[in-house]
Amino acid sequence: MNSPDLASRIKKIDAALDFYLKKEDNPQSIIYDAMRYSVFAGGKRLRPILMLEWCGISGGDEDMAMPFACAMEMIHTYSLIHDDLPAMDNDELRRGMPTSHIKFGEANAILAGDALLNKAFETMSGYGKDAKNAMRAMHEIAVSSGTEGMIGGQIVDILSEGKDISVDRLKYLHTLKTGAIIRSACRAGAILADADDNTVRLADEFAVNLGIAFQIRDDILDVEGSTEVLGKPVGSDIEQNKNTYVKLLGLQRSKELVEEYSRGAKEILRGFGGRAEFLMGLTDHLVSRNN
Ligand code: IPE
Ligand code: IPE
Ligand code: MG
Ligand code: MG
Ligand code: MG
Repeated sequence: MNSPDLASRIKKIDAALDFYLKKEDNPQSIIYDAMRYSVFAGGKRLRPILMLEWCGISGGDEDMAMPFACAMEMIHTYSLIHDDLPAMDNDELRRGMPTSHIKFGEANAILAGDALLNKAFETMSGYGKDAKNAMRAMHEIAVSSGTEGMIGGQIVDILSEGKDISVDRLKYLHTLKTGAIIRSACRAGAILADADDNTVRLADEFAVNLGIAFQIRDDILDVEGSTEVLGKPVGSDIEQNKNTYVKLLGLQRSKELVEEYSRGAKEILRGFGGRAEFLMGLTDHLVSRNN
């Protein structure tokens, strides 16, 4: 894909994040340091990019969706900070930097995660324009991050450590822990553009396929990636006895499945013609990514 295209989108998102995450000068200001440290450590900004794109291809104004796009990145970053904690995946490197609890201590890392989640809802409720669509988008985002979404997936992920589980259960787990937020990013983008139900359904179908492909690729990179390029430790899944596609089905089949699901995602985009050109390239880029 054309990386200047991607870079300019990331730049815009980062400028908005910088605005929403302004540091306050007060006794608790270390919380802003911790929040900003993890958000600005890097990251592909996949979820905000997906939201802005779905808003755009559904005929909406991308600037209007920006507070929601930034909120998605805050929620995602919070999930990563907590995912890395000693009680969870116990990882010491994230986005090429020491993880939050290594840098700031466990208590501050937990609170930075919590604070990012709160800041996400503060941002959406404080800057959203059209009240009806904003409420609907916020509801979708809340559900996707919670017990029936990302948190639910993290629970099943932890419960499955060291156990033999079926491929169906693994797909369920991936669909929740990674897929749910990717889905709400795409759906909420369309909703904010006031898209019809069919477009929201197409955004959803695209995201379901992309979400699974994306997490299988993540599982593959944990085995055959390089820590330097990935910015997080390779081999973490094996060390934590995680169930992954690579563990259950092997590398070859996992790679085939990434292809199959990404084809599924691109199939949906075809109906959008030239408007989906960027998303088409992004899908290819994500499933062949090395970081
Ligand atoms: C990592 O997400 C966690 C998963 C859900 C696979 P990303 O691969 O999008 O991480 P960043 O945001 O680029 O750091
Ligand atoms: C985590 O999945 C998904 C989240 C909800 C954060 P992983 O545990 O596989 O993510 P990485 O590999 O640490 O980024
Ligand atoms: Mg994990
Ligand atoms: Mg992890
Ligand atoms: Mg992983």
